[in-house]
Amino acid sequence: MSRASAPLNPIPVGQQPVVPKHVAIIMDGNGRWATARHLPRTAGHERGVEALRRTVDAAGDLGIRYLTVFSFSTENWRRPAAEVNTLFGLLKAYVQRDLSRLKDEGVRIRIIGQRAGLPADIASLVSKAEEETRTNTEFNLTIAFNYGSRDEILRAASALARDVKSGLRDPDITENEFAGYLDTGDLPDPDLLIRTSGEFRISNFLLWQAAYAEFLFCDVLWPDFGRSHLEDALKCYNERERRYGAVSPGGG
Ligand code: FPP
Repeated sequence: MSRASAPLNPIPVGQQPVVPKHVAIIMDGNGRWATARHLPRTAGHERGVEALRRTVDAAGDLGIRYLTVFSFSTENWRRPAAEVNTLFGLLKAYVQRDLSRLKDEGVRIRIIGQRAGLPADIASLVSKAEEETRTNTEFNLTIAFNYGSRDEILRAASALARDVKSGLRDPDITENEFAGYLDTGDLPDPDLLIRTSGEFRISNFLLWQAAYAEFLFCDVLWPDFGRSHLEDALKCYNERERRYGAVSPGGG
């Protein structure tokens, strides 16, 4: 797999770059960013929110329509309580501070993951953000919070089983119909999945949805991520040939 930091070939003159419709990001490296500066890990998460703001702006400017970011995994509960509380507080502060601006800019906000595990104030705040931006169509920001892909697939399977049991539907189901039971039911699959901080894992993020995504692993730590890194990622994406299991027109 090529990395974003590898030398990039320019897009040939006259050829229009393809902008991925949906970019997903595993925002990794906050802790290491902070530790390298002798700061508490939570400072890295705080700077991570600024990187998220920069990335949302840049993604919209570059023509990306859907951005999905991994903010808190079902496994992150294993972290010290103070760090968990900081991450919850940052989600709350982000929505409180940015909701009206995002709403005015036509951004639709979705939060995916287990709602049941969220404190009541945060659950109601994210529901309000989703409700108030439901009719926006300019840009789609999805925040995966208390999210794990296996958990999401299990919840989808249970919901399907309940529908079958109650006679609402037939058990024979297509991939598209099953995808409709996932938290991402009304989102297109990601075209490009980026993970920062030099780690080569997908860590239970969008396992079903990323079946045909291009993967890009870059060394930059998330708090340093910004417009230029996203632009580099799109250049890299343009060097990939997506075949979806078929052969290329040249037969390769
Ligand atoms: C991974 O870095 C990052 C997270 C677990 C949290 C990501 C959260 C943010 C970017 C800020 C919160 C934003 C919102 C909207 C809530 P890490 O802590 O695992 O870093 P490390 O691998 O260097 O330790």
